[in-house]
Amino acid sequence: MALLSSTSERPVVVAANRLPVDQVRLASGATEWRQSPGGLVAALEPVVRSSGGTWVGWPGVADVELDAFEAGGMHIVPVGLSASEVAEHYEGFANGTLWPLYHDVTGQPVFERRWWETYREVNRRFAVTVDAVAEPGSVVWVQDYQLQLVPALLRERRPDLLIGFFDHIPFPGWEIYSRLPWRREVVEGLLGADLVGFQRGADAANFLRAARSTSGVVTRGSVIEGKDGRQLRAASFPISVDAATLEELARQPETLARAKELRAELGDPGVLVLGVDRLDYTKGILHRLRAFGELLDEGRLEPPGVVLVQVASPSRERVDEYQRLRDEVEATVGRINGDHSVLGRPAVHYLHRTFPKQEMAALYLAADVMLVTPLRDGMNLVAKEYVACRYDERGALVLSEFAGAADELRQAFLVNPWDVDGMKAAILRAVAVGPAEAARRMRAMRRRVREFDVHHWANAFLGALAMLAEPEPEPEPEPEPEPEPEG
Ligand code: G6P
Repeated sequence: MALLSSTSERPVVVAANRLPVDQVRLASGATEWRQSPGGLVAALEPVVRSSGGTWVGWPGVADVELDAFEAGGMHIVPVGLSASEVAEHYEGFANGTLWPLYHDVTGQPVFERRWWETYREVNRRFAVTVDAVAEPGSVVWVQDYQLQLVPALLRERRPDLLIGFFDHIPFPGWEIYSRLPWRREVVEGLLGADLVGFQRGADAANFLRAARSTSGVVTRGSVIEGKDGRQLRAASFPISVDAATLEELARQPETLARAKELRAELGDPGVLVLGVDRLDYTKGILHRLRAFGELLDEGRLEPPGVVLVQVASPSRERVDEYQRLRDEVEATVGRINGDHSVLGRPAVHYLHRTFPKQEMAALYLAADVMLVTPLRDGMNLVAKEYVACRYDERGALVLSEFAGAADELRQAFLVNPWDVDGMKAAILRAVAVGPAEAARRMRAMRRRVREFDVHHWANAFLGALAMLAEPEPEPEPEPEPEPEPEG
C-alpha cells in the first residue's frame, strides 16, 4: 500500500481527482477499467505503478460506490461522487470556474456560489479518505486544481503527515486570480501543504504574490512563513514524460511499420502535419486551423501533397464551452475541406476520439511537422511525447510560447498562437527545414526530455518535500572566547 520515494523512507499516498483507470460501461452492460485520458495520469501512472503505491481518486462516473481494489500494481481507493457533485465540483467549479480562470481567461469563468460549496464538500471527502488510508508519518501528494483545499483540510486532521501539492495547470497573475470570490480560501487551502509545486517559475511567483496579498503571509524567495509558525515552500518542478518507455515503444518494428502504413493510408503526402490535443479551448485548435487554412487559401501549402491530421480527444463534453468549441472546430474543418480537398483526399483529417499509445507513437513517427500551439498550457506533454518518440532525429516541432514546455524546448519553432501571420511563418519554416537543422534541433530537445523525465520530476519533488521534514541542524555552538592575555 505504501510507495517509498527514493529520497525519503516515508510511505506516500497520491490523491488526484481521477483514478488512473475509469470504469467504462460496455454496450453489453458489463463494465471494465480503462486508462483515463489526460496528461496527469500519463505522468503519474508510471511513478505510482513502478513503486507499488496507493492512489486515491474519483472513478470517473457518477453514483458508484466502490471498495478499494488492486490494479496494475497499485492500491486503488475510490472516492464516490454523486451526479450533482460531478456537475457542481468537476464540471462546475473545477472546469467552469478554475480551468478558464487559471488559463488566462481563454474561456469565460463562471462564479457560482453553489459550485463553490460543492467543491469544498468534495475536497473534504478526499481529505477524510486520505486520513483513513495514510499511515502515521506518511507523505501525501495531492494533485491539481480540483483538490486545492485538501492540503489544509488534511493538516487540520493529521499534523503528522508531510503534505505536498502539485498544480499541473498555470497559476494566473494577480490581476486575473484576484477576481475569484474565494481567492483567500483557495490560497489558504494550498498553504496547508509543506511544499507547493508548479510547472514554471512564473506560476510559483504568481502564487507567492497571491499568498502575500490574500493571506498576509511573509515570503522570502521560495519560503513562506505560514501563519501557524510553520515554514513552507513554493517552487517550480516542470513535469515530463516517461521518455525511455515512449522511445522503446517508438522503436518497436510494428510501430515503424504502422507509421509507414499510416502515411500510405493518407496517400503518401509530401508533408504530414499533426495536431494532438484534448478538445479544449485552451489548446488553440481554432487558431491553428485558421493559420493552416490561410496557408492553403494563399496556395503556400498545397493539398493533397500537404495533409493535416488533427486528433481531438473528447473531453468534458457536458460543459457548455466545450460543446461550443466542438461545433466551431467541426465547422472550420468542414470549411477547409470544402475549399481544398480533392475526392478521396481530405486536406484535414479530423479524428474526434482517443487512440492507444502505440497508434499515437506511430502517428508521431509519421508526422513531419507537429503543431502544439495552445493559447495557455501548464506544460503540454504532447510536445514532450513527440520529442521522446523521434529517436530518428527527424520531424519538426512548432510550439507555443505559452506552453510550459517552451521554457525547456527552446529549439522548437516557437510561436505566439494569437499571431496568425507569425504562426503561418513558423509552419512554413518547419515544413521547409533541412534534415541537418531538424536533427540538430531534435537532438538538443531529446537530451533535455531524456534527462528531465517524469522520474526526475517525481524524485525532485519528493526529494524537496523530504528535505523539508529534516529537522533544522543544531546551530554550531559559539566558540568560547579566548581568554584575554593578561598584562
Ligand atoms: C489536464 C489536467 C488534469 C486532468 C486532465 C484531463 O491535464 O491538469 O487534472 O485530469 O487534463 O481532464 P479531465 O477533466 O478529463 O480529468
